Amino acid sequence: MSDIFEKCSTDGGYFGRFRAQGDMYFSQPILEGAPGPRMKFQGKDVIVWAINNYLGIAGRDELTAAAAAALSRHGPSAPMGSRLLTGNSEQHIELERRFAAFCKKPASIVFNYGYLGVLGTVSALVGRDDAVVIDSLSHASMIDATVLASAGRRFRPYKHNDMDDLEHHLRDARRDVKGGILVITEGVFGMKGNLARLPDICRLAKAYGARLFVDDAHGFGVMGANGRGTGEHFGCQDGIDLYFGTFAKAFAAIGGVTAGEKSVVEWIRYNARTNVFAKALPLVYVKTVEAALTLVENEPQLRERMWSVARRLQAGLVDLGFDIGNTESPITPVYVIAGNEETAMAMIADLREKHGVFVSGVTYPVVPRGVILFRMIPTAAHTEEDVDRTIDAFRAMRDSMKLDLSTKPSQQNR
Ligand SMILES: Cc1ncc(COP(=O)(O)O)c(C=O)c1O
Repeated sequence: MSDIFEKCSTDGGYFGRFRAQGDMYFSQPILEGAPGPRMKFQGKDVIVWAINNYLGIAGRDELTAAAAAALSRHGPSAPMGSRLLTGNSEQHIELERRFAAFCKKPASIVFNYGYLGVLGTVSALVGRDDAVVIDSLSHASMIDATVLASAGRRFRPYKHNDMDDLEHHLRDARRDVKGGILVITEGVFGMKGNLARLPDICRLAKAYGARLFVDDAHGFGVMGANGRGTGEHFGCQDGIDLYFGTFAKAFAAIGGVTAGEKSVVEWIRYNARTNVFAKALPLVYVKTVEAALTLVENEPQLRERMWSVARRLQAGLVDLGFDIGNTESPITPVYVIAGNEETAMAMIADLREKHGVFVSGVTYPVVPRGVILFRMIPTAAHTEEDVDRTIDAFRAMRDSMKLDLSTKPSQQNR
């Protein structure tokens, strides 16, 4: 027998090297100021490319005013308790009505965190007799949800965005399973920035009698002419049985929402353990999210602006020879040569210390082993000058570090 705490004084576990060193530079850095393109890091002004504030609305007066009004009217605690007991309110119901309309679905349910929304939704629906066929690059929340749903043995990861492999798993699942099949994918893949092949996935799910859950955390408010997400972008929102978005990214708040058929949403409401056994989203956030939704609906120019910043940044990086893979969204991954951790840390430090450009490095377990990337997020709040200064910084860093950009690491980890 050993002491269960023994591992805690080693450099094992996730990001073990950084934890063991008490790091606050590469992991857990402290950024000061309102979330946006200009913040302070270790007392210095930096241009920040690491926050999912896609539409640049974090810190908008409308959000602050909505939060302040709710705070003075209801206080910070209300409502108290689970939605099923004492935590329900007219405001929650109204927010769900608005999100159902926004997502073009009959009903919706709001959760306290996106993570808890995915966990609750999937685990409320999937039981021991059911199978989950899931894109292998899906976010941890979907993997954890599947495990929580006791579907471990019927967990079928298909090769990332590979429709032949998806069909192969659907065929096998249909043959083997006693219950139903849930297909799970992200809409916009949060690390690579590419899009799920949703029209094909919708078609295949239907052909095999499966239901489709799309976690569109990075497409919600971002993709499609009206920001309704990746389903709107492809014109296949109807084929998505359960559409999920988080409020922690484009909506610059906290919480998440699942939208779908009324009877299914009500089942989730009464069976999602993360709804039944957790306190309701505080009214301060219900009202903040509502204000964010109004901005998302009424200011399409924010999305145009975001795309123009994204295009400028992505073109500039590609011109310099950096590998940004096959992104199809604002998410701009810069793959680091041969997944080399030392090089990645030196590049991050160079950009921060010499040029005041703040990027975050992402490693396993957030991305597969061997991959290291800087996940850059252009937003509507960045200026052309921010982009140009950043491109100059990457050029100077490339030259001073004599980086060999001839290999394309993204191709090795497709
Ligand atoms: C694809 C995806 N799903 C779910 C989540 C969890 O969302 P939240 O931060 O709102 O808990 C995230 C957050 O990173 C995500 O990227």
